[in-house]
Amino acid sequence: MLLHTIAEVREQIKNWKKEGLTIGLVPTMGALHNGHKSLIEKSVAKCDRTVVSVFVNPIQFCPGEDLDKYPRTIEADEALCTEAGVDIVFAPSPKEMYGEGHILSNDFLTYVIPPYFYTDKLCGKSRVGHFDGVCTVVNKLFNIVQPDFAFFGKKDMQQLIILKKMVKDLNIPLEIIPCPIVREESGLALSSRNKYLSEKGKEEALVLSRILLNIKMCYNKGIKDVKALSETAYKFLNENHALEYLEFRDKDNLEEKEIADSNTVVFIALRVENVRLIDNIEL
Ligand code: PAJ
Repeated sequence: MLLHTIAEVREQIKNWKKEGLTIGLVPTMGALHNGHKSLIEKSVAKCDRTVVSVFVNPIQFCPGEDLDKYPRTIEADEALCTEAGVDIVFAPSPKEMYGEGHILSNDFLTYVIPPYFYTDKLCGKSRVGHFDGVCTVVNKLFNIVQPDFAFFGKKDMQQLIILKKMVKDLNIPLEIIPCPIVREESGLALSSRNKYLSEKGKEEALVLSRILLNIKMCYNKGIKDVKALSETAYKFLNENHALEYLEFRDKDNLEEKEIADSNTVVFIALRVENVRLIDNIEL
């Protein structure tokens, strides 16, 4: 069932709650691919009812980012959801979520601001305010859907860590279920932004997973020094890759590591054909 208003969703949720059914929420920005599908399948398997939200959230895009050209494919998204056994696809307009007045003015919206320590690094460094927008919209979605479980992909590991922190700090009564990264056979992590790449660009983009897999292999062979592990990346990079960061951080609190251990995540971001791509691997 495709619903566009908060009132309609609330009505359904009220009935499900009365019946004592468990509810799973999969928040997305649409242009659904097999990565999203894996989260949806987990929710359908675990919960009595599943809600997928499809909302290109304007307040998490920075000026100059791809808000306008972000792919919008609601018909295909709805079909994928129906096929997967989703009960509600919630696709609100920006006006439905944020009202008339404000849309993009911070002055007229209550925000959920995660701790600066979590947002001043990695993607937060170049995308200032991005995680404030993510936490604000996800918090709103939690309040609208009141799920028992919410499913997020490890593809966006910093986002997942920040949302877990938000749920803990604000005592939000639900459990976050982290889901593994889905990749193409080539190793490329699925992403809605891969659509911006040419065939050659997709080939160049394999550098992310190659660097990460090679680091993991070196780690498994016994190299634990982060400097030494980082240096193994350079042989994969060429002039078609603009490296933004390659960092080793703690899985729970994003603290920087000097010596890698089993609680370390390696984060990478780089641009290929001016498309910003991210990936990560757990050691
Ligand atoms: P979006 O980029 O559409 O991603 C929705 C969810 O799908 C996120 O939890 C993301 O981590 C997960 N996902 C994307 N690609 C994946 C892959 N290859 N493997 C596994 N999971 C994958 O992330 C957002 O939307 C937004 O920031 C949102 C949380 C919806 C808030 O607006």
